[in-house]
Amino acid sequence: MFFISQAHAESFMPPVASTFGDAFNSLYSFLVISSLIACVLVIGGFIYFAIKYRRQSENDKTAYITHNNLLEFTWSFIPFVIFMVVFAWGWIIYNDMRSFPEDALEVHVMGQKWNWNFIYKSGKESVEEMVVPVNKPVKLIITSKDVLHSFYVPAFRVKQDAIPGRYTALGFTATKKGNFQVFCAEYCGDAHSSMLAKVRVVSQDEYEQWLRQGDPYEGMSLAEVGQKIFSQRCVACHNATDQAKVGPGFKGLWQSQRTFAKAEGLVADENYIRESILNPAAKIVAGYEGRVMTSFAGQLDEKELSGIIEYLKTLK
Ligand code: CUA
Repeated sequence: MFFISQAHAESFMPPVASTFGDAFNSLYSFLVISSLIACVLVIGGFIYFAIKYRRQSENDKTAYITHNNLLEFTWSFIPFVIFMVVFAWGWIIYNDMRSFPEDALEVHVMGQKWNWNFIYKSGKESVEEMVVPVNKPVKLIITSKDVLHSFYVPAFRVKQDAIPGRYTALGFTATKKGNFQVFCAEYCGDAHSSMLAKVRVVSQDEYEQWLRQGDPYEGMSLAEVGQKIFSQRCVACHNATDQAKVGPGFKGLWQSQRTFAKAEGLVADENYIRESILNPAAKIVAGYEGRVMTSFAGQLDEKELSGIIEYLKTLK
């Protein structure tokens, strides 16, 4: 009985925070509990018969096996009915998840090694944090810039692949305010496990206020702008120390002599850093062959590029 009480989805998943959550939990619990009962019956019967009909002596001969049509039909038909119930139940929930209301708030989501980017219709962009109003249907239009990723929000019980060159969609209605963890659920390379983001669910007023906030870097120096971008976009692959991660560490990079796998060496200056962000394959640091990063061209504006350059200058 302990196992049955632990088999419910709520006992090992975060509390439900979307409209689909309860339906999902019920189906999930049904699947786990019916599997558990079937497992006990099959394995239990197996052990019972193995002991009861074990070979007792050298002269023991196997009894002649006969059929029992009713028994055989029953043990096939009951699982068939259970499977059809699961199919119909799952289909109803899936259909509900895939029906997007006309008035849904649409947000574009782009996966990239190893960040999530959110782009709103107003043109507002956000990295690693998606803000949505509570109790409002949301439709995400998802794609990827490089490889397969998967946008997964356990508290909402929703998951959708992000596929390069194609748009996929995902809908949910958040029912609770707060921060909810987003994971990448498709192995996408070295920093897959740190490809994280948050969904922040707020009231409609707070959402509109957030949407109106213009310059996210107001009152910040260029180096502070760079530090913020570094912590959001670069940190999955680069350390601010001289320790290598997926790519080289950044401490001491500024004005240092760089040696490259194919290109001629140079002293790191503004142009080199800019090129390395916008066209990372142009000069690969020796020892990092085959670890090409995805270009950030079109994703960082001039102020952000300058910010990163100024920030790297401070890492001495
Ligand atoms: Cu992106 Cu795993």
